[in-house]
Amino acid sequence: MIFTVAIDGPAAAGKGTIGRRVAAAFGFAHLDTGLLYRAVGAKGGDPVAAARGLGAADLARDDLRTLEAGQAASRVAAIPGVRAALVDFQRRFARAEGGAVLDGRDIGTVICPEAEVKLYVTASAEVRARRRWQELGGEAGAKPLAAVLAEVRDRDARDMGRADAPLRAAADALVIDTSDLTIEAAVAVALAAVRAKFTP
Ligand code: CDP
Repeated sequence: MIFTVAIDGPAAAGKGTIGRRVAAAFGFAHLDTGLLYRAVGAKGGDPVAAARGLGAADLARDDLRTLEAGQAASRVAAIPGVRAALVDFQRRFARAEGGAVLDGRDIGTVICPEAEVKLYVTASAEVRARRRWQELGGEAGAKPLAAVLAEVRDRDARDMGRADAPLRAAADALVIDTSDLTIEAAVAVALAAVRAKFTP
């Protein structure tokens, strides 16, 4: 059985949580494709060579979730040679036997346009920045909310404005705006969309 759920959307919209929950509910494999770009950005040196030589150890680093790693990821993600080096791995994952959920920026548009279910998960920049700021410790954390909001806006502009595989919703994607939804409500919408297409 081959079945792909493509989840795209901007930073901190809830793609990861929704992706993990959908994968667990249907027994599908899950790939957070942002981690590939974060690992390339963190590796340093020539980004295209880093993408071509990416290995398990690069993905296991514990410093890939920081705001800085996110910014570095979004810079290397605009380089066509980096994206090209990561395509085959993602396509194989998407169409592997057993079903797969991939979350990222270009899954429904470039990596797997044939995905059976496409979701575009979004929220206002203010709501997303507040979520990311809470994850970083809120008032007790090292970054003021305004700085996190500026980074979110900066990354949105770069991801949506790049020439190669810009972030946008596929024409046939279901848009889920999580600005005013609890995570449970957003997950429920995603699960219903998969259930409507998937017969085990
Ligand atoms: O977790 P968050 O949504 O903040 O970011 P991420 O999904 O880990 O992605 C980090 C960066 O990698 C994004 O800002 C994009 O520039 C890039 N990316 C991409 O270009 N294509 C993907 N399929 C996934 C991530």
